[in-house]
Amino acid sequence: MRLVIAGATGTVGRHVVDAAQSRGHEVVALSRSSGQDIVNGAGLMQAMSGADAVVDVTSTVTTSAAKSTAFFTTVTANLHRAEFQAGVSHHVALSIVGIDTLNVGYYAGKLAHERAVSEGPIPWSSLRATQFHEFAEQVTRRGSIGPFVAVPKILLRPVAAREVGTRLVEIAERAPIGRATDLTGPDDESLADLVRRMFAFDGTKRRVIELSLPGKYWRGSRSGLLRGGRDASRGRIGFDDWLASGDHDRR
Ligand SMILES: NC(=O)c1ccc[n+]([C@@H]2O[C@H](COP(=O)([O-])OP(=O)(O)OC[C@H]3O[C@@H](n4cnc5c(N)ncnc54)[C@H](OP(=O)(O)O)[C@@H]3O)[C@@H](O)[C@H]2O)c1
Repeated sequence: MRLVIAGATGTVGRHVVDAAQSRGHEVVALSRSSGQDIVNGAGLMQAMSGADAVVDVTSTVTTSAAKSTAFFTTVTANLHRAEFQAGVSHHVALSIVGIDTLNVGYYAGKLAHERAVSEGPIPWSSLRATQFHEFAEQVTRRGSIGPFVAVPKILLRPVAAREVGTRLVEIAERAPIGRATDLTGPDDESLADLVRRMFAFDGTKRRVIELSLPGKYWRGSRSGLLRGGRDASRGRIGFDDWLASGDHDRR
């Protein structure tokens, strides 16, 4: 198959590319560095030519519901337009477990994203996954102040981005299914504990300060709403296995 990966340079996008290539597919990897800007539409038509399916794993860093909604609806509309003209028959999107109950900030944009995908002109599939193990790295980069790292109190069931990437390719290989079974990781964890274990593994001498933040999003994530239900499918790679794997970025 010829698969277009939007967001191919991202945390999960790199694994989607790896999984697609190792399963013998022809990959068209989209990112701004290779000349495609999905927000302004540059280079999209050319990239879609001859594609069988598109996997969208783009993202933006924001806590604003308006900015997140604008990003995901614009990206979806631009991809749909190019897919329609090129005759692409399957649009695959990645979303997040728990967004219905935590419809605020970035997650409000993900709900708008899911609506845009399901109401659009291209037959679709979408997968909701929990936070990636890589989330511990992302939080650490954004929340560091000198020797301290501020980490919000959150309960998670984190999954390896590698397993999410493989699942997305498996979905893209089949006929569109609408919403797929959610994918979570194998174990219940707290974010602060993940960061502490990551620091111990890396030999990083920083102190983790766990914060109980106010507001609907943080209350919900503290109570475990991001972990998903019993009917989700569970990945096999736990956080400590992921730390020891080549996928953990020790920067
Ligand atoms: N992170 C998590 O824990 C998690 C968990 C569940 C679901 N998700 C979902 O997974 C998806 C990917 O998340 P991620 O954490 O892997 O994202 P990420 O690491 O931030 O990567 C974002 C990707 O989007 C691309 N991108 C952004 N703006 C673009 C533009 N204007 N034109 C073209 N490409 C653009 C970036 O490419 P360039 O910057 O190279 O152009 C990059 O490849 C998102 O939909 C997110 O909601 C994430």
